[in-house]
Amino acid sequence: MKFFVDTAIVAEIRDLAEYGLMDGVTTNPSLIAKSGRDFKEVIAEICGITDGPVSAEVAALDAPGMLAEGRVLAGIAPNVVVKLPLTLDGLKACRVFTAEGIRTNVTLCFSANQALLAAKAGASYISPFIGRLDDINLDGMELIREIRQIYDNYGFETEILAASIRSANHVREAALAGADVGTVPAKVIKALAAHPLTECGLEQFSKDWAATGQSIL
Ligand code: E4P
Repeated sequence: MKFFVDTAIVAEIRDLAEYGLMDGVTTNPSLIAKSGRDFKEVIAEICGITDGPVSAEVAALDAPGMLAEGRVLAGIAPNVVVKLPLTLDGLKACRVFTAEGIRTNVTLCFSANQALLAAKAGASYISPFIGRLDDINLDGMELIREIRQIYDNYGFETEILAASIRSANHVREAALAGADVGTVPAKVIKALAAHPLTECGLEQFSKDWAATGQSIL
């Protein structure tokens, strides 16, 4: 499973890149607003840190507007993936970008039928939002399982990018459900390494090692 980090904060991206824990980056208008940065400038900076896919979302709501904005975003760097909303206009723009060889991430997906349409439009990635479905008492993970089955039934190559991940359990369950990628906040990616038995075992080893009075170096 690939990990994309879900942030527009450059320091978080640099930090994760150093650990080798990041295969790409996703942003959305809310994350750009939170960064307080100029959109195109921050996308260019992120693309300078990673060669992996970097999703940048259009703001227009109509297909011609999405196409115009998406071409500008795709022009920033070769690893930009144009993020489009899962609307009929978004699907129309997706089909055009796919024909032009521009990669797309179709976002705000909340149903298997929406994911089916995105795959038929040739989306590179589909972003089903797990956390937001859980927020309204629905089962986000069941959506990942349904999309996995539908895509496998028909051999669609669209990658399932599990989004709106909020916890380490979301990551584990999305991986078990066969998501190709998870887009995960930086703090959740780092939290995956933590285990109380690891900490406690390490504490004991360090204590016992110190008692030997030896040094490796
Ligand atoms: C990523 O591409 C999505 O925009 C993001 O994961 C949404 O997460 P949220 O529901 O926590 O805002």
